[in-house]
Amino acid sequence: MLPTHSMTEKKLTPYLLYCVSTAVIGSLQFGYNTGVINAPEQKLRTFFTNVSQSRYGEPFEPQTVTLVWSFAVAIFSVGGMIGSFSVGAMVNKFGRRKSMLMNNILALLGGGMMGLATLSQSFEMVIIGRFIIGVFCGLCTGLTPMYVGEISPTAVRGAFGTLHQLGVVIGILVAQIFGLEFLLGSDTLWPLLLALTILPAILQTIMLPFCPESPRYLFIVLKQEEEARKALVRLRGTEDVDDDIQEMREEGMKMAMEKKVTILELFRSPNYRQPIIIAIILQLSQQLSGINAVFYYSTGIFSNAGVSEPIYATIGAGVVNTVFTVVSLFLVERAGRRTLHLIGLAGMAICALIMTISLSLVKTTPSLSYLAIVAVFGFVASFEMGPGPIPWFIVAELFSQGPRPAAMAVSGFSNWTANFLVGLGFPRLEEICGPYVFIIFMVLLVLFFIFTYLRVPETKGRTFDDIAQGFAASQKNKSLPL
Ligand code: GLC
Repeated sequence: MLPTHSMTEKKLTPYLLYCVSTAVIGSLQFGYNTGVINAPEQKLRTFFTNVSQSRYGEPFEPQTVTLVWSFAVAIFSVGGMIGSFSVGAMVNKFGRRKSMLMNNILALLGGGMMGLATLSQSFEMVIIGRFIIGVFCGLCTGLTPMYVGEISPTAVRGAFGTLHQLGVVIGILVAQIFGLEFLLGSDTLWPLLLALTILPAILQTIMLPFCPESPRYLFIVLKQEEEARKALVRLRGTEDVDDDIQEMREEGMKMAMEKKVTILELFRSPNYRQPIIIAIILQLSQQLSGINAVFYYSTGIFSNAGVSEPIYATIGAGVVNTVFTVVSLFLVERAGRRTLHLIGLAGMAICALIMTISLSLVKTTPSLSYLAIVAVFGFVASFEMGPGPIPWFIVAELFSQGPRPAAMAVSGFSNWTANFLVGLGFPRLEEICGPYVFIIFMVLLVLFFIFTYLRVPETKGRTFDDIAQGFAASQKNKSLPL
């Protein structure tokens, strides 16, 4: 049953908002570090050349510079793959809150190394720093949605889940703006731009000790009912938390009857197979939509489209990205996850088609460059309606307490792997396909639309337990969940 409006309001306490805000600092970090490497490309290339000159007495060949540069970019996603995959083991051992706390050590380490790279005249420090920051961000993409999902009241779980993505997009936008040449993207200040990630890490470290451990973890995993109740009373702002406790008790009892859920078990057990396939495909739909082809290479795309100030068009894309995440935030509890994901995928497919047409005709009809900009903005806006925010938080919703950590690890790993492949493969694909490159994403988007339409259940307003039962029941009837 959906709680009434007043119940929902009563549950939105300032303390709950404090805890959610603390957790989404992790999302901000992921976004910042995703966006930050774009602008200082030329500065880093020059730095690599200078280091080689002073160390070996001759500058690197241009191909070597490109190799070192691509390595520094790609190693971030490799770190992300490792970090996201470690989420399950980490939260089972240390809990949600302590894991977030410990993760900040990686930000200090990675940020510190990149910040000191020019002083130490070491390009290796940039590469190792980016790798460590990648592991850090991989952990953030699992830890934040899990903690937020677990402390949220059911009625606003989707809206709160979308706050993770809002953190990500604000992080990207801040990085794009700080990266401008006259701010921190200059010859001397770029190490500071890369090291800035240390500040939010310190802030989160100060704020986290005032947040409780996830009550679901305390109750179901550690069996500390009293502690869980105390945390809930503070989060919900009322002594009356019996409904939450009862729901956790039922979930805990079911979990006690199951074996420990390992990653292998997720694929073996008929109860989990269907939700894990859905979780993986939703994550793939996010990355293989081609969104990061825009976020990593938009400046190139805009200059191909004949835009005179591509960097500002890129920042424009960042602004559209942020605005539409806010729109999604307000719609997700009304329209539902499934509907918004479908609308987003369809919108992206249409915009990919318009992008292709305008990019292929812009040489003969220069005014089409405006249409190309509008199409890119539409692509980004549609992404944030559904495919941006939903995959990150729906995984926590599709699974109950037992399999959730393993499921977050597997789906996060799929997301980062696809992110890595698009980042690495797009420039080559663009060379081969020219302006038709977005047709590939359009075809994939149509396939993901069909899959979502046929297979993805609505999770809005349902408890974790109810959603898990839906899958179990559909398994029994061998039919699809509602
Ligand atoms: C999502 C994606 C991320 C992308 C961002 C763009 O969070 O996971 O890869 O860069 O959206 O807004």
